[in-house]
Amino acid sequence: MPPGREALEAILLVGGQGTRLRPLTIGTPKPLLPTAGVPFLAHQFAKAAAAGITHVVLATAYRASMFAECFGDGAAFGLEITYVHEAEPLGTGGAIRNAAAGLRSGPDSPVVVLNGDVLSGHDISAQIDLHRKSDAAVTLHLVEVADPARFGCVPTDADGRVTAFLEKTPNPVTNRINAGCYVFRRSVIDEIPPGQVISVERVTFPDLISAGALVMGYPDSSYWLDVGTPEAFVQGSCDLVRGRLASGALPGAPGDLLALEGAAVDPSAQVCGGTVVGAGARVAADAYVSGSVLFDAASIGAGARVSGSVIGRGTVVGEGVVLDGVVLGDEVHVAPGNELRSGLRVWPGQTLGLTCVRFSSDA
Ligand code: GDD
Ligand code: MG
Repeated sequence: MPPGREALEAILLVGGQGTRLRPLTIGTPKPLLPTAGVPFLAHQFAKAAAAGITHVVLATAYRASMFAECFGDGAAFGLEITYVHEAEPLGTGGAIRNAAAGLRSGPDSPVVVLNGDVLSGHDISAQIDLHRKSDAAVTLHLVEVADPARFGCVPTDADGRVTAFLEKTPNPVTNRINAGCYVFRRSVIDEIPPGQVISVERVTFPDLISAGALVMGYPDSSYWLDVGTPEAFVQGSCDLVRGRLASGALPGAPGDLLALEGAAVDPSAQVCGGTVVGAGARVAADAYVSGSVLFDAASIGAGARVSGSVIGRGTVVGEGVVLDGVVLGDEVHVAPGNELRSGLRVWPGQTLGLTCVRFSSDA
């Protein structure tokens, strides 16, 4: 912990099903997907620990037991982890209230709450400082994006006070959105009704604002990405590998490629763009792999061209195959000569013989 800082607590919301990332999330929850060589959450743990957070409460629902198997007591990450489980998903607000059972902070202490699928370069300590200085009920990290309708739209006044919270509105009034990192005054969490399905975005924040509570915005323009779609997941992994976002959990120095233990890349192959070659994965002669994530034991055949894609664990990509922007689940076999593009997703265990996928742009 940085000198002179008090011990802090955080709640990490990790109970979602990761539907938009299927088939990758069929067997593995989104926060555990291998990202730049480690489970995604390891990057958030490193960031939390660097900000002085010593105790993390994981709010789990979907495939809950896998989290403890992966992270244990948290000592390996310089943290103490408490696991709190929802028998039925309680929504983001219900999950935060439920996780409060694991907190130790007093009623006036700041508690950090993080969505479990966000990569961010913002300074959590500065956000907490603003929260304390303003004596706010909640302080929200805000970023500007080109497509605010996909997020929580958050207008503020000239002093930075949040004036409304409009979750996934078709008519956003600003490009400034909720970035998924909140600092709550502990007592505000305790006021959320227990044991109910509640959305913090659709109910708790709008209710606090209309009741006149001080909800502050902490705007920031550093790196930010929600990895909830396949394109964003690949982007996030590549950005971490290349060092566009520094992470204390990256295994090794940033570079154009991250090859994990036992990975074998033929000297005539070209692997670049922040690609991860998973443990025991192979890239054969003359293959070209750019900006992709190869899970453990994946195999890329000779002369194949792979870009912007996720290749599942144990999946075999045949000779000369072209993959562009696709997701292959675990243990898929793609016969030589296939060409798959444009967001195609293949469920685990499938075998693709020679398939002809034609697009109008090919004509
Ligand atoms: N424990 C628990 N229980 N966690 C949940 C539940 C639940 O019932 N529902 C969702 N979560 C977790 C997810 O695992 C994820 O880490 C986080 O809450 C946010 O859920 P997403 O499904 O990823 O939401 P989103 O990306 O559509 O929107 C949210 O994030 C945006 C920023 O990335 C909202 O907070 C938006 O307002 C925000 O702009
Ligand atoms: Mg999300």
